[in-house]
Amino acid sequence: MKILNLGAGGFIGSHLTTRLLAEGHQVTGVDINGDKLDTLAAHHRFTYLGRDIRDAEGELAELIAASDLVVDLIAHANPSLYVSRPLDVFHLNFSENLKIAETCVRQGKRLIQFSSCEVYGKTVASIVPGLLANPDDPDLALFAEESTPFILGPVNRHRWIYSCAKQLLERVLHAYGLAGELIYTIIRPFNFIGPRIDYLPREGEGVPRVFSHFMGALLHGGPMRLVNGGRQRRCYTYIDDAVDCLLRIVDNPGGVCDRQIFNIGSPANEISIKGLALLMQELYVEQFGGDPFALPPLLEVSGEEFYGDGYDDSDRRIPDISKAEHLLNWRPRFDLRRTVADSMRYYVEQARQR
Ligand code: NAD
Ligand code: UGA
Repeated sequence: MKILNLGAGGFIGSHLTTRLLAEGHQVTGVDINGDKLDTLAAHHRFTYLGRDIRDAEGELAELIAASDLVVDLIAHANPSLYVSRPLDVFHLNFSENLKIAETCVRQGKRLIQFSSCEVYGKTVASIVPGLLANPDDPDLALFAEESTPFILGPVNRHRWIYSCAKQLLERVLHAYGLAGELIYTIIRPFNFIGPRIDYLPREGEGVPRVFSHFMGALLHGGPMRLVNGGRQRRCYTYIDDAVDCLLRIVDNPGGVCDRQIFNIGSPANEISIKGLALLMQELYVEQFGGDPFALPPLLEVSGEEFYGDGYDDSDRRIPDISKAEHLLNWRPRFDLRRTVADSMRYYVEQARQR
C-alpha cells in the first residue's frame, strides 16, 4: 500500500514507519522534524518531507491524492503545551487536522486518525467519591469506546482543550461517516512508552511526558518530581505492542476497522506515578548497574507549580480493549516491568555510548 504518514517523525510515527516499511509498504512521511527518522533516510520505499502542515495545504492535497491510506498523528501531544499554549493546541489538533480529514472526504481516501485516551477525562470516582461504595473499584476507570461518557474539568482548567479538540475531531469524523462520506478509524492510545519518546530534559529544561522526566533524573541527576503526590494512575503500553495493533488496523481485514474507534492499551499495566518513579529506580539499580546510594530524591510538587495555572489531571484510566481483542485478535504481550525496563534500556545505552 502507498501510505501517507503525517507525523512520521514523532515517537509513535517513527516506530510505525519502521514497521510499515518492514511489512513492504511504501511510505511518505511528513513532519516538521525528521531527527527520529535518520536510520530510515536511505530506505528505497521511504520518502521524508520536512514540512510544517500549516503551510503546505496544496502539497498535502496532492500527497493525499497519491496515497491509498492516510495516517494522521500530527498534534501537540504534551500536557505542558495544553497549559502554556492552549490556542496552538486547538489550531493544530483540531483545525489543521480537520483540513486533512476533509481532504480525505473530498478525495475518497481512508483515514486513520490518532485521538487520545484523554477524551475520557476523569473517573466518576474523582468527582463524587463520597457517593460511591467502593471508589477504588477498577470498573469505575475502565473506559470503553462505545459506552463510557466523558468527564472533563471546567473551562478555566485549560488542560482539557486537548481532550476537547480531539473529541470534537472524533465527532466530526463520526458525522462524516454517518453521511457515508468518509471511511475512518480512530485510535485512542493509552500512554505508550518506549525508545524515542520525547527527549530527556536536563535540570530545568523543557517539560516532556513523565517517563522522560524520570529517565532524565536517573541519568543526569535532579529530583523525580511527583505532581500532586503522584497518586494518579496510568496504564503503560509498550510501543511494540501498540504498533502490532496498528498494523492490524492498517491491514483492515474485510473492512473490520471501518468507522470504528479503538482503545489501544495494556489494562494489566496500571501503576501510580509514584509507583512508576519507584519502579524505575528499582530497575535502574537491578538491571542497569545504577548506584543505589545515588538515586534521585522524590519531590512532591503541586500541578500549578509544575505546569502553571490551568492544569488539571486524569486521576485514572484503564483501557477496555475487548473490541481490539475481538475484531483484531490483538492483545498486548509486554507486562509492566518489561515495558518500563525495555523503554529504559534504550536511554541507558545511549547515555553510555556518549
Ligand atoms: P509526538 O509529539 O512524538 O509526535 C507528533 C509529531 O507531530 C512530532 O513529530 C511533531 O514534530 C509533529 N508535528 C507537530 N506539529 C507539526 C506541524 N505543524 N507540521 C508537521 N509536523 C508537526 O507524539 P506521539 O506520542 O508520537 O503522538 C502521536 C499522536 O498520538 C498524537 O496525535 C497524540 O495526540 C496521539 N497520542 C499519543 C499518545 C502516546 O501514548 N504517545 C497517547 C494519546 C494520544
Ligand atoms: C498524556 C498526554 O496527554 C498525551 O501524550 C496523551 O494524549 C496521553 O496522555 C497518553 O500518553 O496516553 P499524561 O498521561 O497526563 O497525558 O502525560 P504525562 O506527562 O506522561 O503525565 C503523567 C502523569 O505524571 C500526570 O499526572 C502528571 O501530572 C505526572 N507527572 C508528570 C509527574 O508526576 N512528574 C513529572 O515529572 C511529569
